[in-house]
Amino acid sequence: MVRFMSIFTTLLVVLGLTSAKPVPKGTEQPVVTYLGTQGPILSSGAWTSKGIVYTSGTVPSRNGSIISGGIEEQTAQVLKNIGVVLEEAGTSWDYVMKTTVFLANMSDYSAMNEVYGAMLPSPKPARTAVEVGQLPGNFLIEIEAIAAIPDK
Ligand SMILES: *[C@@H]1O[C@H](CO)[C@@H](O)[C@H](O)[C@H]1NC(C)=O
Ligand SMILES: *[C@@H]1O[C@H](CO)[C@@H](O)[C@H](O)[C@H]1NC(C)=O
Repeated sequence: MVRFMSIFTTLLVVLGLTSAKPVPKGTEQPVVTYLGTQGPILSSGAWTSKGIVYTSGTVPSRNGSIISGGIEEQTAQVLKNIGVVLEEAGTSWDYVMKTTVFLANMSDYSAMNEVYGAMLPSPKPARTAVEVGQLPGNFLIEIEAIAAIPDK
């Protein structure tokens, strides 16, 4: 899986270097390919540029399947999935500056908040939390994060 992903990343970078005239995003630093391009969803796990990583909206899936459980389980899985993306990008939750939390139902806010508060290091990132009408796949929660990548 890892090997396939690194071949895939190399391919993307090569294609990017040879085909586009304006310098495409991602040629300076590799695209983070955790979860690949997610098939029909058409998004990368994250993009990195100039020491910053932007994750895609991340959903409570594991190995491509929606996990069972309520808002607590789904929140925990999303935070773990983002942690893996961050790690692949060379950073961690310790360097997250901003999150945006999308909830299918604002009634889940306090339950989400409890898991979020317990799992994330302090000081917490800046955060926006909003209720959205519906999430793809009928997930209860989706989170995106922006993090700094520390110097090696
Ligand atoms: C995900 O899939 C891989 C490959 O099929 C498997 O080795 C791994 O145990 C799975 N992980 C989980 C958490 O189900
Ligand atoms: C949101 O959750 C509350 C409490 O569980 C429930 O009463 C309400 O019907 C839910 N709203 C929607 C749109 O599902």
